[in-house]
Amino acid sequence: MLPERVTVVEVGARDGLQNERRNVPTEDKIAFLDLLSESGLRCIEATSFVSPKAIPQLADAEEVFRKMRKAPGVRYPVLVPNMRGYERAKACGVEAIAVFTAASETFTKRNINMTVEESIAIFAGVVARARADGMWVRGYVSTAFGSPFGDVVTPEMVRDVCVRLSDLGCDEISVGDTIGVGVPTQVDELVPLLTDVIPLERIAFHFHDTRGTALANVYAALQHGVHVFDASAGGLGGCPYAPGATGNVGTEDVLYMLHGMGIETGVDLAKVRAASRFIRSSLDHDLTSKAFQALEAAQARETRTA
Ligand code: COA
Ligand code: ZN
Repeated sequence: MLPERVTVVEVGARDGLQNERRNVPTEDKIAFLDLLSESGLRCIEATSFVSPKAIPQLADAEEVFRKMRKAPGVRYPVLVPNMRGYERAKACGVEAIAVFTAASETFTKRNINMTVEESIAIFAGVVARARADGMWVRGYVSTAFGSPFGDVVTPEMVRDVCVRLSDLGCDEISVGDTIGVGVPTQVDELVPLLTDVIPLERIAFHFHDTRGTALANVYAALQHGVHVFDASAGGLGGCPYAPGATGNVGTEDVLYMLHGMGIETGVDLAKVRAASRFIRSSLDHDLTSKAFQALEAAQARETRTA
């Protein structure tokens, strides 16, 4: 069942930078995105048109989106929480959006100040508008493997929220392990439930590596034929509204594993590393991606001996 080709959706500039303590200069975000655009990635989440009070880190969404280079054939979705965000995004020339809710009520309330039901009602209007405007739409279901607030999340609850977003007209549903608690047997249980009601082609997974299980979860999903995975350059990431959430699975880690397994991605790992190396200089911490670290160290050894 392993796919021959996988699409990696790069979320570092959004899921990553939304969580940084240090203020990342707008021009650095743009340069980071421009480097990612050169790597062969076909889908790069650029920023969020959310409330700047909720996520001050991405308050420069307009400037970032307007000034970043848009490579031909690359999709640049942005997060949109409501109609206000949609209007802002559309005014900047955005052609792909992502709406986001969750399987956990408590998380949804803290993150977007709505119940899951209310969020679906808001997104019904947003997605209808986006589709009428010819946009591509992604729907995120966060906390699909567990909530940071202890409320119970079952696979059936996840399936039901996925179906509701899919029914609104989302082209792709990204199922998120926001706090990195999931294990491969949960993936094995969830994927067949989802593919019963949503075509496999429209399902993506979004794993965080908080407890070191992200790549194992990617592999579990691959075995069910899933072939779209979110990842972030260098392993950046986390959600300020999910206590303890750390980075997404590193794009370099996913690429290293997939390429080693003979699965094509069309992405140049060295070019993603170059983007990660660049953004690291704007941050106050190291990057967590193991493949990034190992490949950088190997290159440094080669340079020393050359
Ligand atoms: N863009 C810019 N500003 C926005 C906005 C948007 N899309 N949506 C709302 N606002 C502004 C409002 O104008 C208001 O500003 P004011 O206080 O100066 O009048 C303020 O934000 C609060 O708006 P309100 O409609 O009362 O919403 P809220 O406080 O219930 O917050 C969300 C709801 C969805 C706007 C907010 O929770 C949010 O943006 N969350 C995003 C969280 C996120 O991105 N998490 C990470 C991804 S998993
Ligand atoms: Zn995430």
